[in-house]
Order: sequence, then C-alpha cells, then structure tokens
Amino acid sequence: MKKIKVGLVFGGQSEEHEISIMTSREIVKAIDKDKYEIHLYGIDRKGYWKVFDEIGDDLKTLNFDRQKDKIPGSIIESLQNDVEVLFPLLHGPYGEDGKIQGLFDMLGIPFAGCGLMSSALCMDKDYTKKLLDKIGIPVTKSVTILKNDVIDFEKMEMEMGYPMFVKPVNLGSSIGISKVRNLKELVNGINDAFRYDFKVIVEEGIDARELECAVLGNENPQASTIGEIIPSHEFYDYEAKYFDDGKSQLIIPAGVSQKHIEMIKEYSIKAYVELGCSGLSRVDFFMDKKTGKIYLNEINTMPGFTPFSMYPQLWKHEGVSYTDLIDRLIQLGLKER
Ligand SMILES: Nc1ncnc2c1ncn2[C@@H]1O[C@H](COP(=O)(O)OP(=O)(O)O)[C@@H](O)[C@H]1O
Ligand SMILES: [Mg+2]
Repeated sequence: MKKIKVGLVFGGQSEEHEISIMTSREIVKAIDKDKYEIHLYGIDRKGYWKVFDEIGDDLKTLNFDRQKDKIPGSIIESLQNDVEVLFPLLHGPYGEDGKIQGLFDMLGIPFAGCGLMSSALCMDKDYTKKLLDKIGIPVTKSVTILKNDVIDFEKMEMEMGYPMFVKPVNLGSSIGISKVRNLKELVNGINDAFRYDFKVIVEEGIDARELECAVLGNENPQASTIGEIIPSHEFYDYEAKYFDDGKSQLIIPAGVSQKHIEMIKEYSIKAYVELGCSGLSRVDFFMDKKTGKIYLNEINTMPGFTPFSMYPQLWKHEGVSYTDLIDRLIQLGLKER
C-alpha cells in the first residue's frame, strides 16, 4: 500500500511550545507507520520554521535564531510537494486561532482539525459566548471591555457579584486569568489581563465542577462520554495545568446523572456544528455545585493531546485508541476540504 505523507507541525509561538513538542513526539511514536509516512516541521517561539528528521527525547524547545526567513522558500516548497495532509499539533495563538489554517488554505494543503473560521471564533471567548447565547446554550454572565472603555464597576458588581473571573479574550492556558474577590482585585485583574490582549472579558464566577466532552468528526460529529477535571489549585490555572506532577485529576466517566450527560453531549454537538468546527474539539463546561446548572465555558479546537490528556482519554474510554484517533483525525482532514 502506498503510504500517505503527513506533515506534523509542532512547537509554535505560544506558551504551549514545549507541550506541543512533547505531544508531537508521542504522535510520532503512536502513528500507524504502515499507513503513514511522517514529515516533521518545527516552528520556534518566534515563528521560524525548520524541517526535522526526528523529535529526539532531549528536544525541549526550538530556537532558530540565525535563520534569515521565518518560512524559508524550501519549507514552502516542501509543504506543497512532500506532504498530502498536514497535522498542526499547535496550541494557542498562531496555532489554534486560524492563522496557520489560513496559511495552509493559501497553499492548498488539507489539514487535520478545525478550519480558519471556527478556530478563530473559538479562540475568542467573547465571540464564542455571543454566538452560543444566540443559539440557546447557557453561558456565564459576562462583560467585554476594550482598552479605552469607561468601566462601570458598580454595574458589574450589581449584575455579577464576586468572585468574578477576568480573562484576556484570545489566549488560553489560563494565562492572564485571575479570580477576583473585591474591587481592588478586579481593577488589578483587568490591568493584568490587558497586558496580554486588547480585549478583556469579566465573568461571573461559578462555584463549579468542570466537565469536558470530546467531539470528533466533520459533518456528523460524535460526542464522547463526559470527563471531569479536579484541579489541584483553587482553579484550573497555568500551574495546575502543566506543573503539578499530575495532581489535577481526570475522572472518566464523570459521576454525573444520565440527564446531565445527555444534556452536555447535546450542547457539545450543537456548539460544534454551530461554530463550524471540523476534525476535533473539546467542549468544556461548568456545572454549578449547588444548583446543577450547566454552562458552556469554552471550545478548545486543539485540546491537550498527549496520550494522557482528557481528549484522547475520553476516546480511549469509547474504544478508540490513540493510534486510531490520530488516524481518524488525518482521514477527517483529508476529507474536509
Ligand atoms: N466563570 C468562571 N467561574 C468559575 N471558574 C472559572 C470561570 N472562568 C474560568 N474559571 C476557571 O479558570 C480556568 C481557566 O479558564 P478558561 O476560561 O477555561 O480559560 P483557558 O482558555 O485559559 O483554559 C477554568 O478551567 C476554571 O478553573
Ligand atoms: Mg479552559
């Protein structure tokens, strides 16, 4: 059988640079080598590209300082001639926000995962919420502010009450996010979030369980069972996500009622379809600990993807191995465009 040539794109310009390298190494190990021939494209933290033969165990971070061009002509040539499909295993800005998807579209190369529009929409916590609200999916109350806006703090306090969560609109990985309990913290939190973005969202804080659903597919997407994250910190912040030595727990399946499971799956698929997702996304929810009310928090178009991450684990629970999941995503990418 002729092998399909896949280009794995890894590293990238976000805080999840190292995670991306680690994950890509796992993908190289797990991918079906009888079916796929793998080509590797590394992107350093500043956006410079290079071809790799392997992802060695000691490769932690990429830095191609003395390279002249960000994407040398040889790379553009290689992308167009050496591979049939790309797999951007990149999280956060420049990987998960539609930018690289637009580049692949321009070059006419099919790729795994969400396209430009859905990636960009899901990256923006403000637009995601506005769209979800329109189609009747519950989201937390929130206010979006731009840098020069006059902020009505009193109204915020009246409508949302403390604690609130302050977030840069386009980021991820919990960077720049703070939980605030009073006016002083609110002001500081907003100033801090504006260091990362020109648009900041302030949300009512929910005392919540965090539930997640894995969605896979193009036009008839399937939803997995529901998993629960029990963060090791007060909330699922950057430290808890990446540096707690696995103290945050993943519980699969989550111990919630059948009614809640069905509702979350339904919302997940509806949101996925409505925002135009393809390939994969992990849809994250809050469940109010007291009232049981469900809120859709966000849609991650490139969720954590190590073999131990929630997304692959949820599919494993459904009987889809990591190797099969990679295969499915590549095949979905080939079909999509
Ligand atoms: N409105 C909220 N109420 C309660 N907890 C929240 C709220 N917003 C965020 N959090 C906490 O902060 C974490 C990160 O926020 P999230 O919106 O998921 O951003 P990111 O895109 O960085 O993952 C969540 O997993 C949760 O623990
Ligand atoms: Mg999140």
